[in-house]
Amino acid sequence: MAMDAVEQVKTALDVVDVVGEYLQLKPAGSGSFKACCPFHQEKTPSFMINRPRQSWHCFGCDQGGDLISFVQRMEGLDFPETLQLLADKAGIQLPHFDAQAGSERKRLFEINDLAARFFHAQLLSSPTAAHAREYVKKRGLDDLTVDLWRLGFAPDSWDALTNALKTKDVTEAELLKAGLVQKGERAGVYDKFRGRLMFPIADVHGHIAGFTGRVLENTASPTSNQPTAKYVNTPETSIYKKSSILYGLDKAKGEIKRLDLAVIAEGNMDVIGSHQFDVTNVVCSSGTALTQEQLGLLKRFSNNLAIAFDADNAGKAATIRGLDLARNLDFNLRIITLPPEAGKDPDEAVRKNPELWRQAIKDALPVVDWLYRNSFRNHDANKPEQKKEIAKELLSEFLHISDPVERDAWIVRLSKDLGVSDDSLRLAIRSVGSASGVRRPATDTGHRTADLVPHATEHKSRLQELQERLQAILYLKPELQTLAKSILRDYYLPTTPQSELLNYLAVLADREFQDQSLEALGRDLEETCRKILELTLTEMRTSLEQDMREAERTGDQSRINELSAKFNALINPSSSGSAGGHA
Ligand code: UTP
Ligand code: MN
Repeated sequence: MAMDAVEQVKTALDVVDVVGEYLQLKPAGSGSFKACCPFHQEKTPSFMINRPRQSWHCFGCDQGGDLISFVQRMEGLDFPETLQLLADKAGIQLPHFDAQAGSERKRLFEINDLAARFFHAQLLSSPTAAHAREYVKKRGLDDLTVDLWRLGFAPDSWDALTNALKTKDVTEAELLKAGLVQKGERAGVYDKFRGRLMFPIADVHGHIAGFTGRVLENTASPTSNQPTAKYVNTPETSIYKKSSILYGLDKAKGEIKRLDLAVIAEGNMDVIGSHQFDVTNVVCSSGTALTQEQLGLLKRFSNNLAIAFDADNAGKAATIRGLDLARNLDFNLRIITLPPEAGKDPDEAVRKNPELWRQAIKDALPVVDWLYRNSFRNHDANKPEQKKEIAKELLSEFLHISDPVERDAWIVRLSKDLGVSDDSLRLAIRSVGSASGVRRPATDTGHRTADLVPHATEHKSRLQELQERLQAILYLKPELQTLAKSILRDYYLPTTPQSELLNYLAVLADREFQDQSLEALGRDLEETCRKILELTLTEMRTSLEQDMREAERTGDQSRINELSAKFNALINPSSSGSAGGHA
């Protein structure tokens, strides 16, 4: 039965059309097309499509297949999901081979779609929605935009949606599961969204998974005597997970791929406004820090992110957290700063003048440059106390720079701008490094276990990174353990990673060391161990020096003796039997 479905889908769709939705194709002889391969990095196209055979192959990374395998890889779906996606695209009704979970999800998407239709029709023509239409007009949203984004209006009523959907055979239980209604205090349910401008929230494929409803300006809801939240969102349901949806991605993904750049704004209105003025590679994370899942989605389409914070939000810790995560996933990150004349957010900017927004995107700065500028803006570099603050902020940032020359160049620049010696900064960066080297337990970051990279929201020290590198190599080649032990000796940390960390190590191993020979990995491991050893010893020395100064200050003689013994052992390892002979 499934086999029929496969043939049906393949007959109904053309590989060139389907691939062409994701990649920019160039003709390459009769029936052939070429493109830059989306599965590996390249500048000259080696990805070929053959129309007569309905197949694709990349000569750069030696992978290939049919249109189903292409979409499967691009969208990161499993086979049945891919088949369903393509069948929908082709307008084919698949014979039922999906599991019950699959059909429940499908039903919830269906219900959300019905709700979107209802809200949309209300906005377009209900007499009670006149003020909503007025508001839409005032915000400059044109008819095409309202249609494209399926904007709607939820009537200010406890049961308008419920009643409308009941006539379409949707039950109260289903409405509850979809998060469209809430349980009443006694029996029954009531509409969750009331008197709001409705934005359907689609997943990456364009299926509506939930809604966010915005208050209409100056219209306090008579059905609610509580202060109204600006936005009300669908609660977490089996199809709506706020942390794994990016608003607008279904519409932006093609352009993100084409321009190889994703622009991330803060609000829905920023996304819609940008698209209305033809800046269509814009999505938003709906007001929260970027999550692992969202970044994973983006990764399918581009490695380059430009993030725009609202003027009042630039530099807030919550948003910066997303940055660290993104860096750990190897995105190239830039930060967009709107010029003062552009207003408070991209929506305002694009409406004042689309060119302002386009230019701001072009002018986006790499994260370090941006933080540097921010730090000097937020502090007075003439005051010693504030110099310290600036140094603290920026030095921990410099630790992320893996290229030592680049890092040093920043230190020199900072020393000039602060008017302090670069030696003092080099000293300071070491203590910043060892302070952040302390790992907090995973639970305290509040992240779900589904997160691939534990602790990723924290600043990772160089030492942590090296240790993870070592663990990743050992994960791939446990037989190298002896070598690692022989180099690190006393400083070898036997670890039994939890499953969370294991996932991460597997990904890291995959990304960094895939297909490397045992020999090459051995060399890498050796080098990694040496660096770990060197850093560990430096950190221990620095912290001993600090303790020593403290002990001298308080005149604690026995502590001083104890510390100098440790110190001697450290700088003269042969007398203690410790490692360290591999300078
Ligand atoms: P903003 O307050 O910047 O909203 O919140 P906005 O979309 O720019 O709206 P306008 O321009 O003021 O009309 C950014 C995003 O944060 C989420 C929404 O997704 C919003 O788009 N948000 C905000 C909420 O989920 N709940 C809230 O109470 C506020
Ligand atoms: Mn806004």
